Amino acid sequence: MSQALKKLSAQLLNHADAVNTGLRASSTWWSNVQMGPPDVILGITEAYKRDTDPKKVNLGVGAYRDDEGKPFILPSVRQAEESIHRKKLNHEYAPIGGEASYTDLVAKLAFGDNSPVLKEKSNCTVQTLSGTGALRLGLEFLTKHYAKNLEVWLPSPTWGNHPQICNTLNIPHKKYRYYDPKTNGFDLNGALEDISKIPAGSVVLLHACAHNPTGVDPKKEQWHQLSQVIKDKKLFPFFDMAYQGFATGNVDNDAYAVRYFVSEGHQVMLAQSFAKNMGLYGERAGALTFLCGDAESAAKMMSQVKIMIRTMYSNPPLYGARIVQEILSTPELRKQWLADVKQMADRIISMRTQLRGGIEGAGNPHRWQHITDQIGMFCFTGLKPEQVSQVKSSHL
Ligand SMILES: Cc1ncc(COP(=O)(O)O)c(C=O)c1O
Repeated sequence: MSQALKKLSAQLLNHADAVNTGLRASSTWWSNVQMGPPDVILGITEAYKRDTDPKKVNLGVGAYRDDEGKPFILPSVRQAEESIHRKKLNHEYAPIGGEASYTDLVAKLAFGDNSPVLKEKSNCTVQTLSGTGALRLGLEFLTKHYAKNLEVWLPSPTWGNHPQICNTLNIPHKKYRYYDPKTNGFDLNGALEDISKIPAGSVVLLHACAHNPTGVDPKKEQWHQLSQVIKDKKLFPFFDMAYQGFATGNVDNDAYAVRYFVSEGHQVMLAQSFAKNMGLYGERAGALTFLCGDAESAAKMMSQVKIMIRTMYSNPPLYGARIVQEILSTPELRKQWLADVKQMADRIISMRTQLRGGIEGAGNPHRWQHITDQIGMFCFTGLKPEQVSQVKSSHL
């Protein structure tokens, strides 16, 4: 074999080796990845699926169901879909922060039609991938533009995704007292005491209404006290409003805390979701608002938020936002939607009454008033884990 041929065959062998090694390497590419824990709620759903009892009910899922346990499509949403369909709209990209016609409407829904902050255009509102997307974007924004030694304080307990998002972003998070197991209600004194010790500048996350997972909301007077301590201690309130309308059946009542804080001069941050109150779970229509003090600051904020969105998912999905926009901007549809929300909230309230009546009627001697005092989709029964296991094992 000539020298040149020998060289070529050696090169080919090297190349084949490299390809093989590459293939071997690619089959072990992910060998360092460990199995992650399953989502807590998913575990309950799995157990539900395995169960063959025809009377089974999945109480773990955070989605509204009708009397047959089926997903509920709001009549207002159906009508909005038909109307959108008739318009034969195109599928062009949405602007990075969503359509301004959508963000204006949703900000008004949260802060009130005549809110001065909206009139001054001192808000920066963008469409997000539902409420989770708003929380993630908002918290990530804080890590970049707010404070290096950012700390987030969460109510105890809170929705499981709050700490998880903080963990993902390496944001230290701590808890302030919220739920009192002795009363199954709001621990006002505990919350005030803990919040009063939080270092100035920290972020305090507040559920605007229908607290998940406890169903326990502060009363108006208690919100006033919370607002005062948060102001006195120079803390930054981040509201998570995933259930506007779901608590009392009235969207304005449920926005009370947010609007009160704004009226007290807090520059709040707000995450909104239309998953629950419009039943648009999978359409991912939400919003994130920063109140910025003036229009100039809002414009700067918007420029930075857009940079973050652009590099994350470029621009938000259109369909859900179109439905929200159609409903909020068409007087008859809006009226129908407000009635739909009320119908869902009223039904939840009546189910609470029935549950309490059933337990008390069965002769249970304990106090069950908290079941009807709590509000929204979630209920903390006060049962201990052993008691839940016993109910499961003796009645399944
Ligand atoms: C407290 C709270 N915040 C935010 C969300 C966000 O939900 P989504 O991302 O579906 O809008 C939920 C949903 O369960 C929630 O309970």
